Amino acid sequence: MSDTRAKKRFRSQEWFDNPNNPGMTALYVERYQNQAFTRDEIQSDRPIIGVAQTGSDLAPCNKIHVFLMDRIKAGIRDGGGIPMEFPVHPIQETGKRPTAALDRNLAYLSLVEVLHGYPIDGVVLTTGCDKTTPAMLMGAATVDIPAITLNGGPMLDGWWQGKRAGSGTIVWESRRLLAEGKIDYDEFMERVCASAPSLGHCNTMGTASTMNAMAEALGMSLTGCSAIPAPFRERMNMAYETGKRIVQMVLDDLKPSDILSRESFENAIVVNAAIGGSTNAPPHLQAIARHAGIALNLKDWETVGFEVPLLLNMQPAGEFLGESFFRAGGVPAVMGELMKTGLIREGAMTVSGRTMGENLKGWDSRDGAVIRAVSDPLRENAGFLVLSGNLFDSALMKTSVISPDFRDRFLSRPGAEGIHEARAIVFEGPEDYHDRINDPALGIDENCILFIRNVGCVGYPGSAEVVNMQPPDALLKAGINHLPTVGDGRQSGTSESPSILNASPEAVVGGGLAYLRTGDRVRLDLNARRMDALVDAAEWQARKDAWQPPELINQTPWQELYRRNVGQLADGGCLELATAYQRVARMLPRD
Ligand code: FES
Ligand code: MG
Repeated sequence: MSDTRAKKRFRSQEWFDNPNNPGMTALYVERYQNQAFTRDEIQSDRPIIGVAQTGSDLAPCNKIHVFLMDRIKAGIRDGGGIPMEFPVHPIQETGKRPTAALDRNLAYLSLVEVLHGYPIDGVVLTTGCDKTTPAMLMGAATVDIPAITLNGGPMLDGWWQGKRAGSGTIVWESRRLLAEGKIDYDEFMERVCASAPSLGHCNTMGTASTMNAMAEALGMSLTGCSAIPAPFRERMNMAYETGKRIVQMVLDDLKPSDILSRESFENAIVVNAAIGGSTNAPPHLQAIARHAGIALNLKDWETVGFEVPLLLNMQPAGEFLGESFFRAGGVPAVMGELMKTGLIREGAMTVSGRTMGENLKGWDSRDGAVIRAVSDPLRENAGFLVLSGNLFDSALMKTSVISPDFRDRFLSRPGAEGIHEARAIVFEGPEDYHDRINDPALGIDENCILFIRNVGCVGYPGSAEVVNMQPPDALLKAGINHLPTVGDGRQSGTSESPSILNASPEAVVGGGLAYLRTGDRVRLDLNARRMDALVDAAEWQARKDAWQPPELINQTPWQELYRRNVGQLADGGCLELATAYQRVARMLPRD
């Protein structure tokens, strides 16, 4: 190792060991010395490894990283590097108003600035809660210094009265019971809190577990990292190994641009379908791909992913939670099963310095009840459908959560399987939905589709997880648990609602949803992948001509900056100007 090291000059040495500019070098060294690093240590030929800390009291889903930090740093030291931990703007899915999605791009921006502007040669990206993973990967892709992800792992399984209580999923279920009058407020609180028994991120295959599985499928974490529950000793071991590995990646100059490729994104899409992953994955992966300069588009989710079978029996699409997923082998077991039938691009490079195919040798399911074989899946065609029509240019539908009952009621018309016509009920946002959903004047029955608009990136701002709207209480009491819902926002990855979401362009920028009115007839045709308002063309045009964009009120300066620069969900919801900056580490910042 020392031979490799002697030949290499690190980026950090431009700060700490530059005899051509003794004035600045001394200034850099003295201040980093004051935390008791010795001069010899800082000026040695060892790489500086940043550790991006996403955990804090405000970010409990990632707080386990505060306790893992010792092991990460021990790994970095044993690998021959010098660790320097730094904080990341907190992103907590359930706590941040108006929505955590607004902050993904803010954390991304600040990470780019830190990695570019400080003496850092490689970085461990701590991840966990939904948006932390894409924010870290987007930043690493833009800067392009050696980077590796380490997630905190899911919480232990939650239990309520002898049954598994999964993050988020129990909320949707308990809300129905509360609306039906079967439980009271106290029991509602107890049920939901039972789903969070330890440190860690959501224990369902919600957006957190999905995005960490995506990081692993992309080749950006060590094999087997993502599914290890937060409190397990294997999680601490993984923290150590990850710290050790990043040092060698720096010595080998193995960067995100060597790992992220069209093939690695196709692997992520395939894995997302096989695990029943979140509908939030497409915008996040689109954003990572754009910052990495890789061609990917929303339709790829259908062409590459739709026919992939569901192998993982985990909530919300299935039954089990994170502990069972880990014991059954986690992501490499799912990928190993997929690889047996040629569904994995085996040549994709990974942080291990080996290909995905090499990493997965010997991996397959260790528990057939939790991870099934491709020949015996839980469901065929588990990927997303990508729809278009006069209401939007694109929107996603996760078909793996559509129940047989729902399919029978809405999509099984004799001679026209997959086609449904209904009356539209339109809400202007979640407040309007809550105010009016139980209003008898709307006449909501089982032949209605619920629409929500003004909840996309620009509209909310940040795009809110509100499309999974519950039917009115009267329908719930009659046993109708789901109506089709459509919107220009997102929905929680833990929801099993059959929604059409991420509609782009969103209503507030003039997308088709803006012109829909309550009472209009709409047609969903899954075979043609279309959804259209059945409104006469002249009338539709007249509504467009008369349309005025709603007034958007910014409450903070970031909201205004974000709204001015953000793109649509179909394009990843990126700060559009940021996508022009690629591999920024190639240029050193000025002194
Ligand atoms: Fe943070 Fe689910 S809310 S991981
Ligand atoms: Mg969420």
